[in-house]
Amino acid sequence: MFERLEPVIPDPILGLMAAFRADPDPRKVDLGVGVYRDDRGETPVLESVRRAERELLARQSTKSYVGSAGNPAFNEAIERLVLGDEHEARLTARVRTVQAPGGCGALRLGAELIRTASPDSLVHVSTPTWANHSPLLSGSGLRLERYPYFDPTTGGVQFGAMTAALERLPPRAVVLLQASCHNPTGADLSPAQWRELLALVKRRQLLPFIDMAYQGLGDGVVEDAYGVRLFCTELSEVLCAVSCSKNFGLYRERTGALHVVNETPAGAGATFSQLVRIARGIWSMPPDHGAAIVHGILADAPLRTAWAEEVVAMRQRIQGLRQEVVKQLREHCPQRDFGFIATQRGMFSFLGIDTAQVRELRARHHVYMTDDSRMNIAGLRQENLEYFARATAQVLAG
Ligand SMILES: Cc1ncc(COP(=O)(O)O)c(C=O)c1O
Repeated sequence: MFERLEPVIPDPILGLMAAFRADPDPRKVDLGVGVYRDDRGETPVLESVRRAERELLARQSTKSYVGSAGNPAFNEAIERLVLGDEHEARLTARVRTVQAPGGCGALRLGAELIRTASPDSLVHVSTPTWANHSPLLSGSGLRLERYPYFDPTTGGVQFGAMTAALERLPPRAVVLLQASCHNPTGADLSPAQWRELLALVKRRQLLPFIDMAYQGLGDGVVEDAYGVRLFCTELSEVLCAVSCSKNFGLYRERTGALHVVNETPAGAGATFSQLVRIARGIWSMPPDHGAAIVHGILADAPLRTAWAEEVVAMRQRIQGLRQEVVKQLREHCPQRDFGFIATQRGMFSFLGIDTAQVRELRARHHVYMTDDSRMNIAGLRQENLEYFARATAQVLAG
């Protein structure tokens, strides 16, 4: 049966990781993989996670199944974190939450729900968007289209072109948005733009599907949820896929959730039952460990405070690096303006060099980023900021 299968070309990021590992040069800089790194270049287990994990191990009395909707205590805790305790959709029972294996699982679950409700739906994603959106969403059978988003000349959002394109969509078209820390561009919508977009979405009767993978790493836990909270209050239907990989550092524990807002509590109940059915048919039940840790943190005031401080530290490190790398680049490449890096948010930015220059940066200077020049800012360290800026200057000089 399998003899006719062609091998799949591996994801270029895997090749980049392997090349970085194999590079013996001590100056090498890894800006490729999208995980948070501290100033030692490590992705540590958060201290709040360690404490919650110890308490969990001490008190857990069973490993029995959790159910297809996941851990209800986690679902409630993450719903409160994303929407806020007193959110209208929570108080009126218009929102339901299902736990999923990471943000990826939540995105796929949402896509399967859309496919169930409306098989011919088109999902409109930003240009560019996170590379995995395409396989995750189209894998469920939905077709993807693009809308303009990133303006490489300013490093910001091409809001006029974006809204003009969305204005032309038919009712019920699905629009994938990112809540904050847009991957791969770092260009986010401002609160005023979220409000303008809300009016458009209402007028055109579009279905927003919001991907929230970096709550807390942009401007703050509350600030990063601005668009999600606004849309979920003002609209009768919204999907929101949440990941705990980055803000809780739980990457491999596969922890996430899908929130679905409906017009009525009865509609929410029906949707929830469909989500449970879909989850049952894909992964049956989500892994519990990460979700139990997140619940343990959010339900315990001292642990929650400790976690919030760790999120602040991650955010401040990223923002500090953004400022400092701009300063270094200004010094070493004065002919070019990299100021946009400091105004963007989250871990990613495009350096804005071409593929040949990216490859030269890799070959001559051991600086690794994807061919489109997307770099993980958190991969920089105090000790190599200047090295990175000098290397960039040499590559730009040709
Ligand atoms: C934009 C975006 N969405 C979703 C995810 C999903 O992450 P995970 O499935 O690891 O929770 C990521 C992870 O990199 C991401 O960057």
